[in-house]
Amino acid sequence: MIVGVPKETAQGEKRVSLIPDGVSKLAGASVLLEKGAGDEAGFPDSAYVEKGVSIAADASALYGQADVILKVTPPSKAEAGMVKEGATTVSFLYPLANLEAVKVLSARKATAFAMELIPRISRAQPMDALSSQSNLGGYKAALLAAEALPRIFPMMMTAAGTISPAKVFVVGAGVAGLQAIATARRLGAVLEAYDVRPIVKEQIESLGARFVQMPVETKDAQDAGGYAKAQTQEFYAKQQKFLAERAWVSDVVITTALIPGQRAPILISEEAVKGMRSGSVVVDIAAEQGGNCALTEPGKTVVRYGVTIIGPLNLPSTMAPQASQLYSRNITSFFSTVMKDGVLKIDPKDDVIRGSLVINAGEVVHQATRTAIEGVPAK
Ligand code: NAI
Repeated sequence: MIVGVPKETAQGEKRVSLIPDGVSKLAGASVLLEKGAGDEAGFPDSAYVEKGVSIAADASALYGQADVILKVTPPSKAEAGMVKEGATTVSFLYPLANLEAVKVLSARKATAFAMELIPRISRAQPMDALSSQSNLGGYKAALLAAEALPRIFPMMMTAAGTISPAKVFVVGAGVAGLQAIATARRLGAVLEAYDVRPIVKEQIESLGARFVQMPVETKDAQDAGGYAKAQTQEFYAKQQKFLAERAWVSDVVITTALIPGQRAPILISEEAVKGMRSGSVVVDIAAEQGGNCALTEPGKTVVRYGVTIIGPLNLPSTMAPQASQLYSRNITSFFSTVMKDGVLKIDPKDDVIRGSLVINAGEVVHQATRTAIEGVPAK
């Protein structure tokens, strides 16, 4: 079996799906790397060659030979078109946002797994790429905030006077939000945090932040997978008012709230930004899903009403060496779950495989994707 590691082609993407140390984890497979695929993550071809990897001169040579493609970002339509007939792809896929590529993969009788659909169960923790990458994103969000804020984060008692610490408010305390809290706290800020899932209160407090609770009861906030559920418009309106009041007494607001498969909820309204002190900062790492702040422009930093609003895209790529190291571990763990003795084994009873399988030998089996393509629910 030949496992192919292509160079990522998405704009600004520096990560690579497999690092040299991961090669030995793909027992029984020969690895083929597209020339320069690891360069931007700090892993030159020579480091792979030392591990017995062969180098393909370009993408078409790689895709033409590989039985399994390991990727970070979803294959583009053009990449899907290069996949060998009957081959397997493992990557982030976001199939509903990439229907054209999915259709091409299906026509090529490919089998495709989506890393983001792996269930968040204990056994799958080593494969949890959403967590490994969000964790880094949360760290970077705190640093971006500290850099953009014209004040310092820590309290300082000096002969020239005492400086009070910056106040940082984190909205959404999933993996990214919790890491943003931990990082901002290490930098000396005073933290408040909020999440629609009251269950995270303890985790927030264990990191030294104050959990702020909305006076409205949050019913039914969490689905069976542990993800937040979308709420009613009425609830979001109440939430925006409540969050505005917290934003007005904060120097920094870091927003991370996501709902799987949907646009990120707008939690920080224009009114909220308007009332923030001039010089304050919003770092909205939900920007990739449209943003939690009404004034976020994904991929840009803008100043509105004197407030700097940062809408970063793909933060993990800005830490490509370690983001790739963690992703490589995630993908090799997954690989060893689906590959037995060098052969792809799809065990429909396995939650991890069933959850992440989008296309099985050309058949789109992920229900929502199938409905989007054909209007026919999967069996
Ligand atoms: P996410 O990236 O989907 O969302 C980030 C956070 O935003 C979540 O905490 C969510 O509750 C929050 N949020 C959504 N709507 C909101 C709103 N209107 N207001 C405020 N906050 C809002 O979440 P992530 O980080 O992917 O975690 C999802 C779930 O998976 C969590 O329950 C987490 O504990 C669980 N998890 C389980 C793991 C395991 O056991 N293997 C590993 C990692 C995460």
